[in-house]
Amino acid sequence: MKKITYKSLLSQKKMKPFTCLTAYTKSLAKILDGKVDIILIGDSLGTALYGMKNTQSITLDMMKNHGKAVVNNVKKSLTVIDMPINTYQTKKQALKNAKDLLNHTKANYVKLENDKKNINILEHLTKNKINVVSHIGVTPQKFSNFKKIKSVGKNNKETLNIIKLAIELEKAGSKFIVLECIKQPVAKKITSVLKIPTIGIGSSKYCDAQVLVINDILNIDSMETKPKFVKKYLNLNHIISSAVEKYVNEVKNKKFPSKKYSYY
Ligand code: KIV
Repeated sequence: MKKITYKSLLSQKKMKPFTCLTAYTKSLAKILDGKVDIILIGDSLGTALYGMKNTQSITLDMMKNHGKAVVNNVKKSLTVIDMPINTYQTKKQALKNAKDLLNHTKANYVKLENDKKNINILEHLTKNKINVVSHIGVTPQKFSNFKKIKSVGKNNKETLNIIKLAIELEKAGSKFIVLECIKQPVAKKITSVLKIPTIGIGSSKYCDAQVLVINDILNIDSMETKPKFVKKYLNLNHIISSAVEKYVNEVKNKKFPSKKYSYY
């Protein structure tokens, strides 16, 4: 598989869905590279890796460290990195932090959670040649408790507002828009009116692409309840647990390390 380009994904719009998953570490970056079109270093690493309740304590330095570890190990997929909460409140601050994040990690795009109040920030970044992905609908940085999330597009007002926002973000220069927990007809409408690709999470098959958090599809935290949109493709928790049990058993029974694993 050769290097994935924005042009190639744009040409797939409305024809062939493309894929995105999160990665936060070297090992997963290497596994995902070239298999998914986009690798997202999401601030979901707060909950997925650090056991935080939400993404609100993630710092720019945490994103820089994980971003560099991932991008250093990606050759084919496009890479997107989240700007953490409170790092894009003014035009000046957003530009400084976006440059810092991109220069340090060499990711291809930054992702911002957008609403109508920060379209000007996005516009400022794109005018300064920063490639930006927007995230609308349910925007996790606003939630301290994910159990309180509700889908968007329940009534006419909400529907019109989110469609208008998506159109304005495209005009302001967004390259992709992530649609989170947006009702199917609304996500379908947004995808059809935009020229840029939509990337859905809990927003139906009518988006141009899909994204999920890697830890969720692998089911590594099997005791945690996950949102309705998460499909678990594996029970990694079970696989790891059984490997750990075997190791512990072998050590206790003096079967490990055997000759094969010892120096003479
Ligand atoms: O932080 C993240 O992983 C995200 C995805 C869930 C879209 O923003």
